[in-house]
Amino acid sequence: MSEDRIVASKDYTNAPLCLSGRGVTKVFGMGDKKTVAVDHVDFDFHVGEFVSIVGESGSGKTTLSKMLLGLLNHTEGEILFMGQPRDISSGRKKKEYWQGIQAIFQDPFSSFNTFQKIDNVLLDCIHMRGGKHLPKEKKIEMMTEACSFVNLKFAELTNKYPFELSGGQMQRLMIARIFLLKPKILLADEPTSMVDACSRATILDMLLQLRDETGMTIIFITHDIGLAYYISDTVYIMEHGKFVEFGKADEVILNPKAAYTKRLISDVPKIHEEWDLSTVELL
Ligand SMILES: Nc1ncnc2c1ncn2[C@@H]1O[C@H](COP(=O)(O)OP(=O)(O)OP(=O)(O)O)[C@@H](O)[C@H]1O
Ligand SMILES: [Mg+2]
Repeated sequence: MSEDRIVASKDYTNAPLCLSGRGVTKVFGMGDKKTVAVDHVDFDFHVGEFVSIVGESGSGKTTLSKMLLGLLNHTEGEILFMGQPRDISSGRKKKEYWQGIQAIFQDPFSSFNTFQKIDNVLLDCIHMRGGKHLPKEKKIEMMTEACSFVNLKFAELTNKYPFELSGGQMQRLMIARIFLLKPKILLADEPTSMVDACSRATILDMLLQLRDETGMTIIFITHDIGLAYYISDTVYIMEHGKFVEFGKADEVILNPKAAYTKRLISDVPKIHEEWDLSTVELL
């Protein structure tokens, strides 16, 4: 699969840390109804690293993302942000943390208030970054720049509502928000699974460009190991709430050790393999 990569995966082992976890665990329910969704995972994500977390449905990816975002409490373990134990014990501290970490989700429509016009969605981002008192012209310039980063035209979006956009356009608008918010970490949970193949490639390229231009850490959640190989520096393979393997993307995917990783790879359609037509009866 080596020809499928668009960037050489870099080794980030010695880069500064931005988000780490030790023994991070989430248990839902009790007794017979107990589900261990995330089971004592350890991880180190570095500044500027493009990390993919890969696993099948139900492996615990979204539960882990919600804990990383501080939307769900962990049952056990410790999360460190920029080398310090993460403190989101008050509303103010949570808000501060969210200056540093933002997310885009599978369904972009669920992330927007349906009744808020698009220019207000973008304006809010400028205000959240402390730009409330900037002159109006400057704000328009910033919103125009963010839209052009994702190939949208700001002038055509003013006065529109999110539901007037296509799924691909909505997801690009989500990226324009991130461009304005400039968090240290972007968590993207299956951001391309609801868009067509063409929009998917565009969105992936935009995420890479965002990382390259801003040094943002990107945590990309996917069930698609082919996609993870295509885009990431580092991959973590998740099965039943545990990381069964992690490392540089090309090392893990070209030389997998865990049986589960091997199975995920064997499920990827082999587009470069020649078709064997010898068994097809000619009419
Ligand atoms: N709020 C909840 N209450 C109880 N169990 C939950 C809850 N959220 C998730 N789970 C369970 O935790 C496990 C992991 O779910 P999670 O949504 O994290 O998986 P996932 O890897 O994101 O799957 P998918 O690829 O389908 O999005 C599943 O068994 C799920 O049923
Ligand atoms: Mg999920």
